[in-house]
Amino acid sequence: MKIIASNFKTNHTRQSTNEFINDINKFLKDENIKNDIYIFPPSTALDNFDTVSNLCIGTQNAFYVKDGPYTGEIGHSHLDEFDIKTILIGHSERRHILDETQKTVSLKFNYFKALGYKIIYCVGEPLDIKNQGLSQTLGYIQEQFDGIDLSYKDMIVAYEPVWAIGTGVSCGLDDIATIHKKLAKKTTAPLLYGGSVKLDNIKDIINIPNVDGVLIGTASWHKDDFKKIIENCI
Ligand code: PGA
Repeated sequence: MKIIASNFKTNHTRQSTNEFINDINKFLKDENIKNDIYIFPPSTALDNFDTVSNLCIGTQNAFYVKDGPYTGEIGHSHLDEFDIKTILIGHSERRHILDETQKTVSLKFNYFKALGYKIIYCVGEPLDIKNQGLSQTLGYIQEQFDGIDLSYKDMIVAYEPVWAIGTGVSCGLDDIATIHKKLAKKTTAPLLYGGSVKLDNIKDIINIPNVDGVLIGTASWHKDDFKKIIENCI
């Protein structure tokens, strides 16, 4: 059984999210698909969705509070309202564009861990580190585990090289295999690959040893493409 996760990022409205989730839910039911599917809509589109048990809706982000004076943020009371218990933490766009430090990422991780959330925890190296070689890459990823409990039972780890995200250029299959083998030695958490996963590479990627699933941005934003990707993981 594989895990297929869609990260909407700053795409889809409340209305189109609703249509997307209902359509995917019907598809999973009609086709009797057993893979675990995750969808991460933008915060404004979170809601109570009536879904099959293998379709989980999560949040792309939240601050490590229940509520309070944190302009622009949401806390876990806003997630409780919709019974959301799944969160993405450490995504490269939050680290590198929104300037989240490892300290912030680990505070979030530990806060939501204490609440028993399912955490999809993202790591991955930028291009200049990749170009320095494997040991630099592994060292960089190791630092992204600072303050993170790798034995947390409700954790999924996503390896997403920064240079492969949203670029159309996926990581080579051998490189994915190498990194995932190393990660599998560190944790028993399921391991996802993310970074330009699309219809023409999904079959190859999903069959790499130690790849338990994928985290997809761009290629998952159209429901028909996402359905085709899911079909290719059966
Ligand atoms: P991408 O994004 O599929 O558009 O490369 C992946 C991600 O950011 O999780």
